[in-house]
Amino acid sequence: MEKTVAVLQGDGIGKEVTKSAVKVLQAVGRRFDHSFQVKKGMIGGEAIDNAGDPLPKETVELCEKSDAILLGAVGGPRWDQNPSHLRPEKGLLAIRKHFGLFANLRPVKAVPGMVDASPLKEHLVEQVDMMIVRELTGGLYFGEPKRKSANGAVDTLTYSRAEIERIVEKAFELARVRKGKVTSVDKANVLESSKLWREIVEEKKEYYPDIELEHILVDAAAMKMITQPSSFDVVVTENLFGDILSDEASVITGSLGMLPSASIRSDGFGLYEPVHGSAPDISGMNIANPAAAILSVAMMLKYSFNMSTEAAAVEQAVYSVYKDGYCTTDVQKVGHRVLSTTAFTDKVIEELERELVSD
Ligand code: NAD
Ligand code: IPM
Ligand code: MN
Repeated sequence: MEKTVAVLQGDGIGKEVTKSAVKVLQAVGRRFDHSFQVKKGMIGGEAIDNAGDPLPKETVELCEKSDAILLGAVGGPRWDQNPSHLRPEKGLLAIRKHFGLFANLRPVKAVPGMVDASPLKEHLVEQVDMMIVRELTGGLYFGEPKRKSANGAVDTLTYSRAEIERIVEKAFELARVRKGKVTSVDKANVLESSKLWREIVEEKKEYYPDIELEHILVDAAAMKMITQPSSFDVVVTENLFGDILSDEASVITGSLGMLPSASIRSDGFGLYEPVHGSAPDISGMNIANPAAAILSVAMMLKYSFNMSTEAAAVEQAVYSVYKDGYCTTDVQKVGHRVLSTTAFTDKVIEELERELVSD
């Protein structure tokens, strides 16, 4: 099969981990006889510096002509004092909105043999396998009015019925092909938007009698993520709650550097990116963990290209590298050998090619 992938490396370690992910994508192409055309575009701080816009028109056009988007991360201290419209993060929000990528899937899964890399006790982590479904194009991030002056500031949390319905449906559908449970996270004891959210979840539940449903308030959810992480299957929530809970959940299984994501819409088009940011503290040192970016490629193969076998091969290759006793410096695994970004990537590719030899 032939596919075109727009690659937006972004800033900081975004550049390093995306290079790794593209190398792995090309290895998948060799192994499974696909042709992946990679076309680079600018986003974030790099785009501000070179084109005066965190999401230049050329980048949008490139993505429109592509079958999927692979993104690194944006942002860094260099742009932190910029006005809102000239911040790297604005480019990321704009691309999600432009392409209508309302469903952000963030899978959190215990990696075989790596449960002791978690800061939590092993028995809590062993069975963890959850999918956080974060609403990505509404809520506090986008609601109007949004403004700030020296004397006050306002952000607005709005959700339309349609916006809630489509993300809730996505969650129920995913639960059907997973473990059959949806946990809806809200703040219905305080927020009007959450009250509507909860009502709509209840309405949709009627169409999914086979699915177990629980509602939980976001503060309690934050606690339960740590005390009973394996009790979750699909977790569906609004934009900001999902942002916060997914960083929290990422460390349950090891490190933020291991958590991939897919931002998709109903027709399967999607943007794939690690959950982590540009990590200015370790940028340029060749020590960033490329696993989240590589596993984001696996999600692209699965969700946008319908290549489940190829996706599983990538996942398996990453797991094998961990099983063979290697990791990067962010993963606290006693006895493992710490590799650089590029060396870890080479090991993943070796694994993919080894699978080829043994076929
Ligand atoms: P961050 O995710 O960049 O880093 C948090 C911590 O995790 C840092 O200590 C970092 O070194 C570590 N870390 C993150 N990814 C890692 C990896 N792959 N390997 C090893 N260690 C890793 O979050 P931050 O420091 O709060 O934000 C830095 C910048 O990134 C900000 O400008 C922020 O807006 C941006 N950001 C961008 C995205 C994105 O583009 N999707 C996501 C989050 C943050
Ligand atoms: C993420 C990031 C972004 C978000 C920022 C960089 C705008 O934290 O993808 O999780 O808040 O959505
Ligand atoms: Mn985040």
